[in-house]
Amino acid sequence: MFPFIIFSLLLLTTTTNSAPASDSFIISCGSSSDETDSNGRTWSSDSKYLTPSSHDSTISIAKYQDPSLPSQIPYMTARIFTSISTYQFNVSSNQRFFLRLHFYPSTYSPLDPKNAYFNVVANEFTLLHNFSAFITAKALTQAYFISEFCIVTSQSSKLNITFIPYSPTSSYAFINGIEIIPMPDHMFQTATLIDTDQSFEVGNNSLQTMFRLNVGGQSIAPNKDSGLSRTWYDDSRYLFGAAAGVTFTSDKNVKIEYPSSMNEKIAPLDVYSTARTMGPNATVNLNYNLSWVFQVDANFTYVVRFHFCELELTKINQRVFDIYINNQTAQESADVIAWSGSEGVPFYKDFATYVMDGPGDEELWVELHPSVSSKPEYYDAILNGLEIFKVNDSDGNLAGPNPTPSHLLLDAERREGKKLSTSKHDCDKAIGGAVGAGFVVIVAVCIFVVYRKKKRNGFANDSVLGNWIPLCGSSHKPTTVSDKSSGGSSNLSSLTQGLCQHFSLAGIKHVTQNFDESQVIGVGGFGKVYKGCIDGGTKVAIKRSNPSSNQGVTEFQTEIVMLSKLRHQHLVSLIGFCEENGEMILVYDYMANGTLREHLYKSDNPDLSWKQRLKICIGAAKGLHYLHTGAKNTIIHRDVKTTNILLDESWVAKVSDFGLSKSGTNLNQTHVTTMVKGSFGYLDPEYFRRQQLTEKSDVYSFGVVLFEVLCARPALDPSLPKEQVSLADWALLNLRKGTLEDIIDPFLKGKINHESLKKFVETAEKCIADNGLERPSMGDVLWKLDFTLQLQEAPDGAKHASPKATWDTEEGTIYSGSELDDSNSSAIFSQMESQSGR
Ligand SMILES: *[C@@H]1O[C@H](CO)[C@@H](O)[C@H](O)[C@H]1NC(C)=O
Ligand SMILES: *[C@@H]1O[C@H](CO)[C@@H](O)[C@H](O)[C@H]1NC(C)=O
Ligand SMILES: *[C@@H]1O[C@H](CO)[C@@H](O)[C@H](O)[C@H]1NC(C)=O
Ligand SMILES: *[C@@H]1O[C@H](CO)[C@@H](O)[C@H](O)[C@H]1NC(C)=O
Ligand SMILES: *[C@@H]1O[C@H](CO)[C@@H](O)[C@H](O)[C@H]1NC(C)=O
Ligand SMILES: *[C@@H]1O[C@H](CO)[C@@H](O)[C@H](O)[C@H]1NC(C)=O
Ligand SMILES: *[C@@H]1O[C@H](CO)[C@@H](O)[C@H](O)[C@H]1NC(C)=O
Ligand SMILES: *[C@@H]1O[C@H](CO)[C@@H](O)[C@H](O)[C@H]1NC(C)=O
Ligand SMILES: *[C@@H]1O[C@H](CO)[C@@H](O)[C@H](O)[C@H]1NC(C)=O
Repeated sequence: MFPFIIFSLLLLTTTTNSAPASDSFIISCGSSSDETDSNGRTWSSDSKYLTPSSHDSTISIAKYQDPSLPSQIPYMTARIFTSISTYQFNVSSNQRFFLRLHFYPSTYSPLDPKNAYFNVVANEFTLLHNFSAFITAKALTQAYFISEFCIVTSQSSKLNITFIPYSPTSSYAFINGIEIIPMPDHMFQTATLIDTDQSFEVGNNSLQTMFRLNVGGQSIAPNKDSGLSRTWYDDSRYLFGAAAGVTFTSDKNVKIEYPSSMNEKIAPLDVYSTARTMGPNATVNLNYNLSWVFQVDANFTYVVRFHFCELELTKINQRVFDIYINNQTAQESADVIAWSGSEGVPFYKDFATYVMDGPGDEELWVELHPSVSSKPEYYDAILNGLEIFKVNDSDGNLAGPNPTPSHLLLDAERREGKKLSTSKHDCDKAIGGAVGAGFVVIVAVCIFVVYRKKKRNGFANDSVLGNWIPLCGSSHKPTTVSDKSSGGSSNLSSLTQGLCQHFSLAGIKHVTQNFDESQVIGVGGFGKVYKGCIDGGTKVAIKRSNPSSNQGVTEFQTEIVMLSKLRHQHLVSLIGFCEENGEMILVYDYMANGTLREHLYKSDNPDLSWKQRLKICIGAAKGLHYLHTGAKNTIIHRDVKTTNILLDESWVAKVSDFGLSKSGTNLNQTHVTTMVKGSFGYLDPEYFRRQQLTEKSDVYSFGVVLFEVLCARPALDPSLPKEQVSLADWALLNLRKGTLEDIIDPFLKGKINHESLKKFVETAEKCIADNGLERPSMGDVLWKLDFTLQLQEAPDGAKHASPKATWDTEEGTIYSGSELDDSNSSAIFSQMESQSGR
């Protein structure tokens, strides 16, 4: 369904692009002069390439600048066509080019973006047909996108790109930018045609790039590509099932070098230096396939390019595996060392397969499994990169239908359109629920919080959402795939862009023994949390909303949208969800050591050492720092507390529960106005007063967490004398009196290095400063905590160390940094819900 899309350019560094090759063209359409984008790339004006027949074209400037645009150039200007119009470029004959079309479907007065339906034809190839950039962007939850094609010019030394409004009377065509980049010769030659003895000549076909993945690695921005300005994406969103194998980065000792037979433009070395393998356990590996699943258009041939580079092993027959594409054997006994000759040498291989139009066929599956018959030393498989290209059909056509935006998204928007209404009843309930916490803020909550009637219309009984993938079935394929003829959408995953799985209720019931109480590992405001085991032994935590309450639809959606796009070592990973029969169920990685709170007080767990506590705080701080700065839009968690910091089996801290989190529209905007939410005891007083949410509210809550870790008592304890109820107030009072040492966890007394304690307390105190501006950023908190740890470990050495140098913020990857543009986020984060129960 989706054309290859460049979600966000991730171009954080300014590059000095080398002068474009002679045959390249980088054109900003509708621009009257040459202009430079935010990366220093020059885009030339388009007018000299327009043919004289294009007299009906006009220049327009977008009415609105979406904050997610990476640069004004080329998106803010457009060329609008109301009749057939052509750009013509002088190129070499028999040359292959990357052609990238940039679209920003905004309002170009007086035209409505919804009315732009058009075809795009490049020489004899139809690239797009009845194409709606508006629908495509919506389905992708992106403000702008780029479609990439590989075009061959046969005898002709001209490349004509023609825009044809689909209906001459009611529609128009537009384009914001065009890139034409020559590709090296022989970049495509022959591919093995699956299930036949034949080979497929890619030679004179044109292609559309559907997917381009740096498997097991991070996204690679165009300026880091090996000369063709491609974007390579992280593969994790396309992985099927919870068994994701393990990712692997090459050791510094392994030198990765292209063999002399290979052009470096095939793929950058960064692609080859990371990989995904199945994991260390042969028994587990034999029981599953390492699988990726892609949505594609039916009735086309696809070329699937596998990039390999062995990073660990050196001998033949150590790691041998079979490759399946759409349940057919593409390659038996693949052995990377046998192909490449040695470790660190890249190798790639192309396969071709035809995707038919039968039920469930609009998917392309790539599966790897150890080759048992080869009797290798290890039962394992490896993949470093993957590209999927659609091949033109016999009519020279590459166009597929427009994608269908997700129902979840449309519902969320519809709800947003409905008027807010207040409900006294809900408000009363909120007070009732919060009274236990007995605190002065409650009174104000009812003033600030505008309740909204919760509607579940269209959400629960949406048949498309159910029955997607059987959870524990023997088959790894969906049993029912949406059926176009019944009006269903196969693009539900556009909301999450395919990253997380949809589980069936039956499957969930199976693994939780029909929600048996013996499987319960936690109870929260949302409902109960069960443990379970899926796909070859992966342990998961299954969070089920209380079916009798209708709270939390928005939180549910927010959590899915947020978590499916964020991946970070210190954020809990969402594996999937189930939304069927009114049930809302989220499936996460299992966190063996539970919540941080369970290890601080009111439990039988052994006390954590000071160093352990510091490491946990540092991990959580890294997760929050990433939320605040790693994404294009700042994400504010809004519910930082010790029960939302989870610990895995190796005590790695992971921030969880994104049900309340909110994305600022961009970094320049310093706050988002919102209704006050959060948990008592952790709530930023300034946010409470001004209702303006900034990332500093999370810093405040984190400060409370730091005191909780130090003092091993709850943030709010109504059973204590009045001045002690709030930990934040109590800690500040003791700090002022110089008696803080009296309230720290008795277990820690005498075990904390004095300097370390001093630094820690200083940091925590700054975090809970009344004025947000005086609070440090999460990045500052992080390095201060890191310094605290150094002081504990090496009290003397650390004083001379540079405290800032030790941590790394680039561990995570953001998917589609601009996913949460204004319209969608406001819908998804529409406000409702009470304070109680969280
Ligand atoms: C392309 O080449 C033709 C001659 O073949 C020339 O007249 C024309 O000006 C060239 N167009 C551009 C944009 O350079
Ligand atoms: C490009 O368009 C010109 C007319 O504008 C036509 O003469 C030429 O044949 C076209 N070239 C191709 C390859 O379609
Ligand atoms: C591609 O087309 C050219 C002529 O247009 C021809 O010479 C060449 O053999 C073709 N290549 C393949 C692989 O079919
Ligand atoms: C591999 O996994 C299986 C099943 O989960 C387990 O029984 C076995 O002990 C594991 N083997 C190793 C070496 O960890
Ligand atoms: C695929 O081809 C078949 C047979 O030509 C046709 O019936 C079907 O509608 C096509 N499907 C799509 C999605 O174009
Ligand atoms: C792996 O995939 C192949 C092809 O789809 C299938 O035949 C096989 O049963 C799968 N194996 C496992 C363990 O799922
Ligand atoms: C895979 O193909 C085999 C035979 O070709 C078939 O028996 C099996 O059911 C298929 N599996 C799936 C999941 O389609
Ligand atoms: C793609 O288009 C070319 C040129 O029109 C044609 O020769 C080729 O057969 C087409 N490819 C397929 C798979 O039909
Ligand atoms: C054009 O695309 C729109 C949106 O996908 C669709 O509703 C419409 O039926 C299409 N028109 C034709 C003639 O295919």
